[in-house]
Amino acid sequence: MLGNFSYCNPTKLYFGEDSLNFLNEELPKYGKNVMLSYGGGSIKKNGIYDKVMEILKANGKTVFEDSGVMPNPTTTKLYEGCKIAKENDIDLILAVGGGSVCDYAKAVSVSAYCDENPWDKYYLRMEDVDNKIIPVGCVLTMVGTGSEMNGGAVITNHEQKLKIGHVFGENVFPKFSILNPVFTYTLPQRQMVAGVYDIMNHITEQYFSGEDDNTSDYLMEGLMKSLIYSSRIALVNPTDYEARSNIMWTATWALNTLVAKGKSTDWMVHMIGQAVGAYTDATHGMTLSAVSMAYYRHICPYGLSKFKRFAMNVWNVAPNSKTDEQIATEGLNCMENWMKELGLAMNIRNLGVTEDMLEGIAKSTFIMEGGYKVLTHDEVFEILRASM
Ligand code: NZQ
Ligand code: ZN
Repeated sequence: MLGNFSYCNPTKLYFGEDSLNFLNEELPKYGKNVMLSYGGGSIKKNGIYDKVMEILKANGKTVFEDSGVMPNPTTTKLYEGCKIAKENDIDLILAVGGGSVCDYAKAVSVSAYCDENPWDKYYLRMEDVDNKIIPVGCVLTMVGTGSEMNGGAVITNHEQKLKIGHVFGENVFPKFSILNPVFTYTLPQRQMVAGVYDIMNHITEQYFSGEDDNTSDYLMEGLMKSLIYSSRIALVNPTDYEARSNIMWTATWALNTLVAKGKSTDWMVHMIGQAVGAYTDATHGMTLSAVSMAYYRHICPYGLSKFKRFAMNVWNVAPNSKTDEQIATEGLNCMENWMKELGLAMNIRNLGVTEDMLEGIAKSTFIMEGGYKVLTHDEVFEILRASM
């Protein structure tokens, strides 16, 4: 049921092959000092760095480089970024990269002027921001997280073996994001498919929740169908513009807060995946794919009618004279086959998880309450064991 809600998404998006030109329209809105945050060097190899630098220079900006943002950004890197931002009186953080760089930029934006330890305040205590926030803009190069149009900022603390996401409010969303599908062509296939499954899982985390038949469910079924169709094309032909642009646009809509409206939302696969990530530093989308089938098979009986609808509306399973359980199972089997077709990680052992880690991972998994079944830590342990 659609209850009471407010909706606002303040991020301005520029989409398409020519979208980087719009950086010229955005930059004059901010002061002179720009912190250019990026990852381990892919943007230097594929030429995006040079293009962005040229525009920054043409707009008279003083650029402070902040490279080496790793996949699954860490607290150590966060503190480093805060130092650069504060010492140089940064007016805009320009994140050029994937979800890791965008998330990190948002984390720096709220942490640079935070008087306390930002990890404790935002991640352990989940407090709101009450200090100056530096504006963030994004040039997206990897598709999946939706970070380009949301307030999410996931940070990993290796000492504490915790990977936690804070979902900040609209004041922390990127001010603008530039989405050029061509920039994603150079992604290794493994990253592309990890991103595809991240998108799928963002949708299923929201779809499989609540007592529902609301507009969000129909929107999500459309997004899933587009994603499945386009992913198969992109797998064979990574430079198919239409497929890559559909995947990029689907990623944004999967997690820019729209389809969450009216839904209680689950997020248990993400919670288990993040706990696996904290122990292994594995690629985000792969941590999700590796635990998903065990999780969905576990909760299917508690949300049977929705799993039946998923099978019929998303995977075109014909009901014929089958039982609801048979239809639901067939739908999940279709999803599993598609995941294997993409070449996703289907177990956590391949991500580096060993038997002795299972208990720690299960215990540190944060339990959410929006899904069809509120799990116990013992059930998380069983799901992890079934994912080995
Ligand atoms: O570091 P570089 O050299 O740039 O290489 C990156 C990185 O190794 C590479 N890459 C990115 N664009 C490329 C490219 N390589 C070639 N060509 C390009 N065009 O891809 C690798 C992965 O990048 P990363 O940013 O880590 O991937 P992703 O976008 O999946 O981000 C993952 C992070 O986002 C968090 C995850 O937990 C993880 O920390 N999430 C953020 C969310 C949010 N903000 O709402 C929600 C998600 O569920 C997720 O938790
Ligand atoms: Zn995700």
